[in-house]
Amino acid sequence: MEDFLVCIFMKLSLDELILSVPLVCKSWREASLDPLCWRVLDFQELDIMSWHRFAKRVAAQYPLSRLSFSAFLKFAVRRSRGLAVELRFPMFLRASMEDLVFVSNECPRLKILVLGSMSLEDRDHISELAGKWTELEHLEMAANPSTFPELASEINLHCRNFSGLKMAGLRMKDAMAIVNHLPNLKYLNLSNSYISKGTLLLMMNGCKEIEVLTVKHCIGFEADGEVREAAAHIGVFNHEGSKLTNDSDSDSDDCVASCRFFHDREDYRMGRRCLL
Ligand SMILES: *[C@@H]1O[C@H](CO)[C@@H](O)[C@H](O)[C@H]1NC(C)=O
Ligand SMILES: *[C@@H]1O[C@H](CO)[C@@H](O)[C@H](O)[C@H]1NC(C)=O
Ligand SMILES: *[C@@H]1O[C@H](CO)[C@@H](O)[C@H](O)[C@H]1NC(C)=O
Repeated sequence: MEDFLVCIFMKLSLDELILSVPLVCKSWREASLDPLCWRVLDFQELDIMSWHRFAKRVAAQYPLSRLSFSAFLKFAVRRSRGLAVELRFPMFLRASMEDLVFVSNECPRLKILVLGSMSLEDRDHISELAGKWTELEHLEMAANPSTFPELASEINLHCRNFSGLKMAGLRMKDAMAIVNHLPNLKYLNLSNSYISKGTLLLMMNGCKEIEVLTVKHCIGFEADGEVREAAAHIGVFNHEGSKLTNDSDSDSDDCVASCRFFHDREDYRMGRRCLL
């Protein structure tokens, strides 16, 4: 019976696991304490919109003095007793270096790690933790650290099965680091960032194992003949919405759209200024 419950609870979200299940009955509560229920720790589900409400409800139900994000992270990570394979930090609640150190020490089995918002300074120290991520296969960063080349080198040394990376932005030194240290990367997502054509070509020509390259809504290159040719060996090359410059075309499109909006509201003054 308990194994059966654990199988079901593994699929529940953190808030269901913490706030609903334990209240049902003793056997449900006991099953919910099985570390297997805590292998996927997705804190993005509790992101900023609902965090306040969630924190209040948890503090009422558990003996936690003050429910900071850090306290909650530690609580959930401890329940996983080293078995967590996937951890997603919230996008908008800022995580500290201390949180990331804790996670790196307590979750040696992580395969998927998604980092959210961090301070600039903390971000630059991420590379010091990669030595702990020996089973990591996929890393996502909301913004890439200025020390990305060091991070790529550490990942190369310690994460034997690493194959997927998502980050925002690719400078020339980052592209060179990917080619030098992560040549076997299979999945790369750089959507919504600035990438020059030269940087993109260098990376595409250097990484022969890429199966899926996603560069949607980027600025800095267009999928011209040269780019398409370099992408010929890539199974899925998704470049929808990417263009050379964040140019006046789109500005005037925006302007036309806002003119329409203001016209609809009969604000002709604004409309006239747009048209000039
Ligand atoms: C890498 O993947 C292989 C095959 O899935 C697995 O047997 C091995 O344990 C993994 N190694 C690490 C360090 O995760
Ligand atoms: C790539 O990242 C974008 C932006 O975050 C996301 O919407 C998209 O689903 C991702 N695609 C893949 C294939 O990972
Ligand atoms: C392009 O311009 C828009 C509007 O000014 C902005 O929101 C967006 O972030 C820019 N994109 C890049 C990749 O710089």
